Amino acid sequence: MGYKDIYARSLADPEGFWMQEADKIDWVKKPSKALFDDNAPLYEWFSDGLVNTCWNAVDRHVEAGRGAQAAIIHDSPVTGTKHKISYAQLRSRVARLAGALRAKGVEKGDRVIIYMPMVPEALEAMLACARIGAVHSVVFGGFAAHELAVRIDDCAPKCIIAASCGIEPGRVVHYKPLLDGAIEQATHKPEFCVIFQREEEVARLIEGRDYDWHACQYGVEPAECVPVEGNHPAYILYTSGTTGAPKGVVRPTGGHLVALNWTMKNIYNVDPGDVFWAASDVGWVVGHSYICYGPLIHGNTTIVFEGKPVGTPDAGTFWRVISEHKVKSFFTAPTALRAIKRDDPEARELAKYDISHLRALYLAGERADPDTIQWAQKVMNVPVYDHWWQTETGWTIAGNPAGVEALPVKIGSPTVAMPGYDVRILDEGGHEVAPGTLGAIAVKLPLPPGTLPTLWNAEGRYRKSYLNTFPGYYETGDAGMKDEDGYLWIMARTDDVINVAGHRLSTGAMEEVLASHPDVAECAVIGAADELKGQTPVGFVCLTKGVNRPHAEITAECVKLIRDQIGPVAAFKLAVVVDRLPKTRSGKILRAIMVKIADGLEFKMPATIDDPAILDEIRGALQGIGLAKG
Ligand code: COA
Ligand code: AMP
Repeated sequence: MGYKDIYARSLADPEGFWMQEADKIDWVKKPSKALFDDNAPLYEWFSDGLVNTCWNAVDRHVEAGRGAQAAIIHDSPVTGTKHKISYAQLRSRVARLAGALRAKGVEKGDRVIIYMPMVPEALEAMLACARIGAVHSVVFGGFAAHELAVRIDDCAPKCIIAASCGIEPGRVVHYKPLLDGAIEQATHKPEFCVIFQREEEVARLIEGRDYDWHACQYGVEPAECVPVEGNHPAYILYTSGTTGAPKGVVRPTGGHLVALNWTMKNIYNVDPGDVFWAASDVGWVVGHSYICYGPLIHGNTTIVFEGKPVGTPDAGTFWRVISEHKVKSFFTAPTALRAIKRDDPEARELAKYDISHLRALYLAGERADPDTIQWAQKVMNVPVYDHWWQTETGWTIAGNPAGVEALPVKIGSPTVAMPGYDVRILDEGGHEVAPGTLGAIAVKLPLPPGTLPTLWNAEGRYRKSYLNTFPGYYETGDAGMKDEDGYLWIMARTDDVINVAGHRLSTGAMEEVLASHPDVAECAVIGAADELKGQTPVGFVCLTKGVNRPHAEITAECVKLIRDQIGPVAAFKLAVVVDRLPKTRSGKILRAIMVKIADGLEFKMPATIDDPAILDEIRGALQGIGLAKG
């Protein structure tokens, strides 16, 4: 069957389609049906099945005789180490850790926060939670203590599993003081912490609260897999929204297993035993779905890469990893390729390696610009597939189903909707627009298995953020269009989310932090175009009356404040002082116009603008920091 038939069947007979896919998963009790729609517009899949994620990702491969196959390859140029963990080893390591968690009282449904860098132990911690039905929430290492504290208070973990440190080029990230600071700031206190001590930095443990990773596993009985319901949350992953409070995306167990398993062959075109590499971080959804769960559920070998595309040690690192581990399908963010291209435009480093095992490159996380795609096609000599998805969906909304049939690539489009996603382009009134017309991208409900059923402890916010604007649809927050061939084109966000180096950030969250500066009366943060990172945040601050300290001092404090409160990942380096912000007569800040000015683009003067003269001041301020050219 070709793509068209598969897609049509997924929409015409979702029950038959997904029940057939569910057969590829080991259930303790098979679900009686696929879709549970009694609570529409909230939908669930496979709710009455019983299943365990860790069993499907680890044990079943050992039982099937693949115990000796590498499950994980850790390749860490930042520590100069490499090692492999087989499926059999992974099973015993995970079962022991799960046993230690259980011995300390972690049970099915309890939350566990994981705050770790790119080490295999991060995946082991995730799988150990899954083994006993605990709900993990991984927090990206580039977030500061405050962001960690917000997540601790939202999901109220019984336990936090952390590493002593992470390693960024040129500096050690001291996780332990960040963890201690976060626990101090948070209202909710975890009962205990498990600390994985790395050689690069051994952290001081707090007696009675912190336990050493190895010591706490000593003498405990390994845990068996605990069956959970199909709608049991596998994990919570926080992502940026319009406000400072992150949204806790809930991932349901059954749909997650079924959908990810489908994608491995049909999108990424790998068979069990093949090596698959997603160069992302376990703190992001790509890391959850395609460093940890997807490849393991499907019996692939996954690579945990601790390094950067450039500088660890050079722009040839990715090519070395692909060549050395015989990677068949490779997934990264366009920004990583832009970094390589900038350092090594002729791809001289690539000539040193044999990457002939590689069949395709997959890009996601941000818009893939045509230059980057064409450069990658030329130097890597493999098909380059852009695909579009979000933390909320957990897997591809639009992509190229290369394992079914490789559809012609149209550069700039992530290709077509994947099974179960009935993607529509709507105007403001919720009416579908004609092909080629720009609109809000929405997906007709229900979303397919594996996507979010709700937000953690925030059903009202779930409805408000995703369901209320267009009744009967899920609002993606992206704007774009569909062409005559059904190809999707993703143009921009419709909310205050920006994308910096493939990282999803909220300008609203940054504004909340800037507003807390005692000298700031009013502020706005926008995302300006950036050659390397796609977008870069720029802050505008208006000072409180009577403040006459040097502006450079205040903006430097603003930069530090965001780094301390949100974290280095915000990459917030540009702030300017202005007298006023451009607004409509009703007082709405005209951020979109400010973006146009920053990017040196033409714009139409809005009829509702209060005082057009302010725009010249904005332009002047931006020119002062090297923007608003052209
Ligand atoms: N822990 C702690 N700090 C981190 C971190 C982590 N896991 N990840 C990033 N940071 C820090 C960086 O060290 C940097 O700090 P600095 O301001 O002291 O230099 C800051 O956060 C900003 O990081 P980033 O925006 O990533 O910029 P960079 O200059 O370090 O690297 C790229 C630029 C393009 C090489 C890098 O962003 C990259 O590899 N991007 C790919 C992103 C990706 O895979 N995204 C996942 C979606 S698929
Ligand atoms: P995240 O939840 O961090 O994965 O970010 C999801 C958002 O990133 C999407 O809503 C888009 O705005 C953007 N995005 C992800 N992939 C793509 C893509 N292939 N093309 C364009 N935008 C993308």
